[in-house]
Amino acid sequence: MKNSLIIALDFTGKEEVNRFLSKFNDEQLFLKVGMELFYQEGPRIVQELKEKGHQIFLDLKLHDIPNTVGKAMERLARLQIDLVNVHAAGGKEMMERALAGLEAGTSSGQKRPHLIGVTQLTSTSEEQMQKEQLITASLKESVLQYASLTKEAGLDGVVCSAYESEEIKKLLGSEFLTVTPGIRTAADEQGDQKRIATPAFAKEAGASAIVVGRSITNDPNPLEKYKQMKSQWEGVLQ
Ligand code: C5P
Repeated sequence: MKNSLIIALDFTGKEEVNRFLSKFNDEQLFLKVGMELFYQEGPRIVQELKEKGHQIFLDLKLHDIPNTVGKAMERLARLQIDLVNVHAAGGKEMMERALAGLEAGTSSGQKRPHLIGVTQLTSTSEEQMQKEQLITASLKESVLQYASLTKEAGLDGVVCSAYESEEIKKLLGSEFLTVTPGIRTAADEQGDQKRIATPAFAKEAGASAIVVGRSITNDPNPLEKYKQMKSQWEGVLQ
């Protein structure tokens, strides 16, 4: 889990995924399956990718009443995924029930999937957060509050931007996972993300793992781009 570069498979269907993965030869990858792909292909896509030896981050960002989230997590644990998430905004009880559900759904001898909380989406700016969510705190304070709540609920870490990773580690300990999306190389387009960072910056900030989508998936040579970003992330190349 730690030091992983997770590729976001933001594709509409299995054919597109297979076309993309065929460019990676037999490389074992850490792949993120999000809502778009999961809602199109269902749990089968996760099973197929696991059978090929890939690790899976199932990014469904659950947010509902505690009972519903707990029961849903019990089902998801049976897919033997490696990482899954909920919105911290769902509250401490919801997160506790999510964790209990995951534990209940993990068969004996298997490892429970890591569970992390989404703090503020990396597509949210401070201005937007204050205006739309009526939060008067700064974005960083809001992220830190959600991160503390996530830890109190017993979760393994959070999704946050690289800009908050260092402070979260300082506050909640180096073992608490920070998974950071919104990653771009200097030459990439920003897209709809607001709090973007390079792989090297994320590393400096102590991020546990980075999530990269369009920078790799939209590149004409995704394998090369993956290798380049992985070396930057691993600190081989600045
Ligand atoms: O294409 P890009 O690199 O921006 O993709 C980032 C991925 O990370 C997307 O799949 C997005 O859903 C996900 N993500 C995010 N911010 C979060 C949690 C997940 O951007 N807080």
